[in-house]
Amino acid sequence: FNVPVPVNEPVRAYAPGTAEHKNLIDKYKELYNQPQIDIPMYIGGKEVRTEKKRPMAPPHDHQKLLGHYNQGSAVHVEQAIEAAMNAREAWANTPWEQRAAVFLRAAELLAGPFRDKMNAATMLAQSKNVFQAEIDAACEMIDFFRFNVQYLTTIYKDQPISSPGVWNRVEYRPLEGFIYAITPFNFTSICANLCASPALMGNVVVWKPAASQVYSAAVIMELFQAAGLPDGVINMVTIDGPTAGEVIFKHRDFGGIHFTGSTEVFRGLWKNIGENLDKYKSYPRIVGETGGKDFVMVHRSAKAAEVATALSRGAFEYQGQKCSAASRAYIPSNIWADVKSILVSQVSSMKMGSPEDTSNFINAVIDKKAFTKISEYIDYAKAASDAEIIVGGNYDGSKGYFIEPTVIVTTNPKFKTMEEEIFGPVLTIHVYDEYKYEETLHIVDSTSEYALTGSIMATDRYAITQATDALRNAAGNFYINDKPTGAVVGQQPFGGARGSGTNDKAGAAMNLMRWVSVRTIKETF
Ligand code: NAD
Ligand code: ALA
Repeated sequence: FNVPVPVNEPVRAYAPGTAEHKNLIDKYKELYNQPQIDIPMYIGGKEVRTEKKRPMAPPHDHQKLLGHYNQGSAVHVEQAIEAAMNAREAWANTPWEQRAAVFLRAAELLAGPFRDKMNAATMLAQSKNVFQAEIDAACEMIDFFRFNVQYLTTIYKDQPISSPGVWNRVEYRPLEGFIYAITPFNFTSICANLCASPALMGNVVVWKPAASQVYSAAVIMELFQAAGLPDGVINMVTIDGPTAGEVIFKHRDFGGIHFTGSTEVFRGLWKNIGENLDKYKSYPRIVGETGGKDFVMVHRSAKAAEVATALSRGAFEYQGQKCSAASRAYIPSNIWADVKSILVSQVSSMKMGSPEDTSNFINAVIDKKAFTKISEYIDYAKAASDAEIIVGGNYDGSKGYFIEPTVIVTTNPKFKTMEEEIFGPVLTIHVYDEYKYEETLHIVDSTSEYALTGSIMATDRYAITQATDALRNAAGNFYINDKPTGAVVGQQPFGGARGSGTNDKAGAAMNLMRWVSVRTIKETF
């Protein structure tokens, strides 16, 4: 079990004028200007194309045609399952060191020659600024690959006790069927990890990326191939979810689902699996990380400048399209005036535009559907008598799907935008009577159906303890005096409970444990 000690990949600064900045922007321009690409599906190691081509455009420049991807049908899903099942036995019996070596190789390729392409594809297709692309598509993905190898060894090392004349041992086998990975648009690293973590444990995968992430998904497949992943271990099909589900959820070899996306979609998938339970060889593993309505709770002892910075970064990085984004905050009356003045100044100075100009902090939201949904929430707040917009509130979808970072203040702690996941650059604040701290903690806990991330900001130790206790079940990732975003693999295992997921903690051995089936062996001498 001697594996390289994992270290977090250092984040590059990409300061303007440096070679690393120039190389990345050159790669971005190369992708932007390349003759239109035709992204295939990857089935059994082969590139598969169809007659049905779907256009792709950058969210910040939606009239620009980047190229097409190929829309698959039920036949392609069947082929992907067959390719996966054909690859299964050899991959499951490959020594774990060989499997680990593929992903360690992927990490080093991504740290080196693949980095600019993965980052540029994420900036272009998902509209991330350079820093958001680097911490996701480069660093977090590399960290997943490196740390998962160490977690594998902690699992395999865990063995029962034996006694003279008896040798007990457990064997951590992959699941018997194939794993279905369904991935979101917002983190390229999560997409890679939802496939890579089951595959590392010896499983085979059918992967359905989100339509708006196919561009960087193809780079992930190129990376896996370059790292030496055998054909058929991970198969990417670009297809709509219900069509894929018709085949996958009725298949005897369906072994489990590794999902990240919205709560509503996950609940529908779970019901579908339940309805088909009698068809499966084994009970499928169901692992899903879903929505959030993440909070920042502030005590009267907190420092106003720190609160404002946690809010502006926590709410507006990547246009608020992080599952972990701060989207509701509770500020005590005694520090509100100071928090407000710093927050408004910080937010109004955030530049908005294309990621190609790396001084832009805010880029576009992912697509027209998101643009419409988010702008409707903003309009709702504009019309409400118990809310006011203190900064932002404008949007313009003519060239790209641009929405200003927007802060709503409401007198109603149960205001619609305090309760529902918006998944965009909208933060709602409720200012509470500074002496009603315990009452407000109860409101924080009971306001939303989610429990993904949250933070408490206070200098008073007793207040921190009160919040940590009262909000025990309100967040799978709880931050003290920090923003609720930015979990780092190896440092803060990530995942939520309640409506936010099965809490199997990405970036931890807990997640990998879901992808093994254990055989206990007792040998008597
Ligand atoms: P989404 O639910 O719209 O889509 C996620 C995936 O599900 C996509 O691949 C989509 O094509 C697929 N899908 C949609 N309907 C389907 C169906 N009927 N059958 C099969 N697949 C289907 O989510 P999104 O917009 O891509 O991502 C945003 C959501 O993801 C937010 O709710 C966010 O909170 C959540 N998210 C959660 C985490 C986490 O770790 N908890 C991380 C990232 C994103
Ligand atoms: N690592 C991401 C965050 O915590 C999901 O924001």
